[in-house]
Amino acid sequence: MDEIELIKQKLNIVDLIQEYLPLKKSGVNFKANCPFHTEKTPSFMVSPERQIWHCFGGCQKGGDIFKFLMEKEGLEFKDALEILAKKAGVSLKRKKTGKKDFRDRLFEANLKAQELFGYILNKHPLGKNALDYLKKRGLKKESIEKFGIGYAPNSWDTLTKFLLKRGFSISEIINSGLGVASKDFCYDRFRARITFPLIDQKDRLIGFSGRVLYPQEPKYINTPQTPIFDKSSYLFGINLSKNEIRNKKEAILVEGEMDMIMSYQEGVQNIVATKGTALTEGQLELLKKYTETINLCFDMDLAGDSAARRGIEIADRLGLDIKVTTIADEKDAAELNRNNSDAWKKAVQDAAPIYDYYLHSTAKRFNLKNPSDFKKVAQELIPVWAKITDDFVREHYIQKLAAFLKIEEKLLRQLVNKQRKFDGKISFIKISASAGKKDDGIKSGKTRREMLEEYLIALLLHIPEDHNFVPSFPETLFLEERWKQIYVMLVLYLDSIFFKMASFNINEFVSTLPKDLAQEVDRLYLTELDSKLADKKDWQKEFETVITELKKSLIRASLERLTLEIKNAQEFGKIESLEKLNRRFRDLSVKLKNL
Ligand code: UTP
Ligand code: MN
Repeated sequence: MDEIELIKQKLNIVDLIQEYLPLKKSGVNFKANCPFHTEKTPSFMVSPERQIWHCFGGCQKGGDIFKFLMEKEGLEFKDALEILAKKAGVSLKRKKTGKKDFRDRLFEANLKAQELFGYILNKHPLGKNALDYLKKRGLKKESIEKFGIGYAPNSWDTLTKFLLKRGFSISEIINSGLGVASKDFCYDRFRARITFPLIDQKDRLIGFSGRVLYPQEPKYINTPQTPIFDKSSYLFGINLSKNEIRNKKEAILVEGEMDMIMSYQEGVQNIVATKGTALTEGQLELLKKYTETINLCFDMDLAGDSAARRGIEIADRLGLDIKVTTIADEKDAAELNRNNSDAWKKAVQDAAPIYDYYLHSTAKRFNLKNPSDFKKVAQELIPVWAKITDDFVREHYIQKLAAFLKIEEKLLRQLVNKQRKFDGKISFIKISASAGKKDDGIKSGKTRREMLEEYLIALLLHIPEDHNFVPSFPETLFLEERWKQIYVMLVLYLDSIFFKMASFNINEFVSTLPKDLAQEVDRLYLTELDSKLADKKDWQKEFETVITELKKSLIRASLERLTLEIKNAQEFGKIESLEKLNRRFRDLSVKLKNL
C-alpha cells in the first residue's frame, strides 16, 4: 500500500473535518453547511466509508482528506501530505528524484531555446523583420527584453541541432514540445515565428507561443500539453504581474500576449492574458491566490458567448468579484495602448460590474420598443441571475432587472427562484416522485429524464439495510451510457452478496468499477436522500414510481417518433406500413395508459 492510502486508512475523515466544523449524521453519511461557500441549508456531505466529501451546493468542491486540508488551509498537496502523515504517524519516504530530473531537463531545454531565439531576434540579420514588426506594433526595446521575446528562424532543424549539440536527447526535445516527432527524427515546432516565453507564477519557463509576421493561419501556435506545461491553468504574464495584482487588489484579464505586454509597458501592470481560451477553473484558482476581483477585457460578447458565460459562472462560484472593461471603437487593448494609453487607463477604471454589463449588452441586442422583446431579455437573463451565488447581489440585480423590464419585482423573484430550484446537481434529489412532473419549460442543464436516471442510481445505492432486493429491470431503461454500466455492475454485485448473504459494502462495490464510474458512484453515494427512504416500504414505493416514470418517458419518446413515421407514410401513401405503424401506436398508447 502506498503512503497516501496508508494515511487515509489511519485517519478518519469525519474526525478531521469535525476539527473545523460540526457534522450531523444523515443516513450513512454526514452533512454540514459547506465551509467553502456561504449557504443556509447544508449541502456539504461526508462519507466515512468512502473517506470522501463533496459539496452539492454552490461550490461543487469535493475530494479526500488531503483535498479538504488543502482547500481549508490553502496548502499545496505536499504540505497537506506532510501534516496528515504526521497526524497518522506515517513516515514519508523521500521522493524519488528521477522524475524531478526529467522535468528539470525540460525547463533547461526551454531556457536554451529562449537563448537562441533571443539572440536571433536581437543580434542576427535573420531576426531583422521580426524586430521591425514588433517596433511597428509599439513595443519598446525594454519590453522585448523584459518579456524575453525572440524569433524562431524559418528552418526545420536550427533549434533541434542547437539542442542536440548541447546534450539534449531527441526525446527531451520532443517532450518539451520544442520539437515535433516525425517518422524517424524530429523537427522544430516553432518556425518563422516571433516567440513569447510562457513563464509561470514560479518563474519557470514552461513553454512558448509563436506568432507569424505576416497574415497566415494559424496566427499563433503554442507548446502543446507537456509534463511541464498545463495549458488549462496557465495565464500569460502572471510571473511579472502577480505582485501588482496583489497591490491593486484586482487582476485585469485580456485575451492576447500583445494586449498584456502593451498594457504592462504603458504602466497598467496588474494584468494577465488568457491566450484566447475561455476562462478555466484552474486559471481562476490561480488568480484567487492573489486577488478577489477580476476585470475582464475580452473581444467577444461575454453575454452572448456560452463558453465565456461558463467561465464567469465559475468565477462567481469561487467568490470572485467580476467586472468588465469595454473598449470603444472595436480596438483591442494592444492597439489602444499604442495609440492612447490614457484612454486604456480610463477604460479599465470605468469597468462595469459583470451583471450590469450583462443587462446592457443583452438589452442592446433587442428592440425594446417591442413588448415581446422584453420577454426575450428576461428569458436570457433569468438563468444568469439564478446562478448568482451571493443572495445580496442576486437580490440587487433582481430589483434592477425588474425596474428595467418594468415588471413587478415579486414576479421576477419568483421566476429566478424557480430557475434556481431547477439548477444545480442536487436538484434531482428533490425530484422524488411526489414532486411536480412538468419541466415548466424552463431550460436547465439537465432534462427531467436525465435527473431521474441519476436519481434512480442514487436510490439503488441506498437500498435500506433490511431490504434484500436485487433490481431486475432491463438496463435499457437508462439512456445514459454510464448509468447503464453502473447499473449492470451493481446488479452483479447485489447478486453476489445476495448469494453470500453478505450486506452491501460500498467500498467493495466501488472496487469493482473503473475509475471514472467510481467517481460518479462516489458522488451519488454522498447525496442526501429523503430520510423516509430509509424505510423499506417507502423506498420500494419510490423506486417503483421512478421506474414507472422512466418507462413512460421512453414510451412517449417512441410515440413521438411513430407520429413522425406515420406522417411520412401518409405523405408517400405507404398504406401497408401505415397500418403497421398505427397498430404500434395504439399498442403503445394503451401501454402508457396502463402504467
Ligand atoms: P486574437 O486572434 O484575438 O489575436 O487571439 P490577438 O491577441 O489580437 O493577436 P495580435 O494582437 O494580432 O498579435 C487572442 C489570443 O489567442 C491566442 C493567442 O494567445 C492570441 O494572443 N491564439 C490566437 C492562439 O493561441 N492561436 C491562434 O491561432 C490565435
Ligand atoms: Mn490584437
